[in-house]
Amino acid sequence: MMRPPSLSTAPPIKSHARRDFKADPVGCLLRCSRELGQTVKLELDRPTYLLNSVEDIRHILTVNPLNYLKAGFEVELVGVFGRSLINFEGDPHRTARKELAPHFQQRALSAWPACVTAHVRAMTANWPDGGQIDLAKQVMHAMVGVSAQMMLGLGLDQSSSVDELFWLIHKVHEATIQRRRTLSRWLAWMPTRANRRYARFTGELDRFMRRLMDERRQGPLDGDDFLSLMLRWQKEHPDSRTDIQVRDQATGLFLAAYEPAANAIIWSLANLADHPDIESKVIQQISQTLGPRTPTLADLESLRGVRMVFDETLRLNPSPWLLTRMTVERDTLPTGLTLQPGDRLFISPYTLHRRADLYPDPERFDPERFTPERCKARHPYAYIPFGGGPRICIGEHMGRLSAIVALTAILPAWQVTPNQPRPPLESVNGFTMQPRDGVLMAHVLPRSGQP
Ligand code: HEM
Repeated sequence: MMRPPSLSTAPPIKSHARRDFKADPVGCLLRCSRELGQTVKLELDRPTYLLNSVEDIRHILTVNPLNYLKAGFEVELVGVFGRSLINFEGDPHRTARKELAPHFQQRALSAWPACVTAHVRAMTANWPDGGQIDLAKQVMHAMVGVSAQMMLGLGLDQSSSVDELFWLIHKVHEATIQRRRTLSRWLAWMPTRANRRYARFTGELDRFMRRLMDERRQGPLDGDDFLSLMLRWQKEHPDSRTDIQVRDQATGLFLAAYEPAANAIIWSLANLADHPDIESKVIQQISQTLGPRTPTLADLESLRGVRMVFDETLRLNPSPWLLTRMTVERDTLPTGLTLQPGDRLFISPYTLHRRADLYPDPERFDPERFTPERCKARHPYAYIPFGGGPRICIGEHMGRLSAIVALTAILPAWQVTPNQPRPPLESVNGFTMQPRDGVLMAHVLPRSGQP
């Protein structure tokens, strides 16, 4: 007779307190995964499991992805993003992904290097000849500029619109977080202070996007940015989508594009500043490959050192550090854990990428972990800064390109030294991770100005 599966085949599940998680979600999950094993049950408002097994992660993201719905900040943000690729599920997700895919392929990438270089140069043109800057804010602003140009068609010559957008998204973000900290989001109909601020800034963002769409329609609609592409499509197929759908998709893509790329640049600079030996090798390779030229798509393959720095930075500092899913139907994971409908799952690139058995001496910054041979030897789900499966980041190549091109523009020209001690990392929205209060001050010095 076949024996029923015994409970001992299931991984050990340990419970952890809610207070710890609320106070310091990043630190709490890291402690859980280090001290309690590969599957940890968290005592939160509903049954929640932190999964650190590569096979379980593969199962959720790739083998049975339709059984796991998005359940994190991107769902809460429907009031801001509206409904777009980032929070669609099922058929609408599949259809949108298919429609958008061609715009994320190689051909569409060719305009990015010049755009990124121009925005980074505009940023560094105002840097002092030795002095302090708020690196996090400046890089974020430059990447908002890139995203505004490539997604919404707002060029460098429209800097006042980009500044307005930068201010607006900051306010929307702040208002969303504030509302989240109070009971207001459960009482959306009540005119609490948090709800009024939220309504005011999301309304302003909506008006900004609609104004942009109206202005664009008055022109020839011949731009290569996403908004123009979608408006052209809408004009040619009048019943295909509503204005709200166009607005939502454009806003969602714009918002998804700039923050993780900006974080990757900021942390790559910080990691290199801590490792001058690696930094000088990388600069040497950039100079040998490019000389005074700006990079094109064709150069990326040769810029292997910067790519490895980028990959190692995303291992240690993955911007979306927590992917959250909700279980639809009962399912058993490869390690034996049986999930019930409504169970929540946390998949954290931050904790997974710190598993000492996958990355020995995991806190050490070592780009050599990303030589082609060592990448090949690792389990494909041991490294997931862009997620995986049908919901893998659609902008992976654009994000990569943006960060690598920005680094090639900054590193040979500027010595950037983020101040010590570094502000601790925090995740105010539970999805991306930033330096505390979004501030990272740095000392900048033109390299030619070095003694
Ligand atoms: C270094 C840069 C980037 C990183 C690290 C990153 C990371 C991620 C991750 C981890 C996910 C999966 C979330 C999940 O499964 O819950 C994701 C999804 C997504 N990303 Fe990115 N991203 C980056 C750049 C970009 C850019 C440049 C764009 C747009 C041009 C973009 C657009 C999106 C969209 C639309 C999704 C949702 C895809 C779907 O659900 O089908 N990302 N990103």
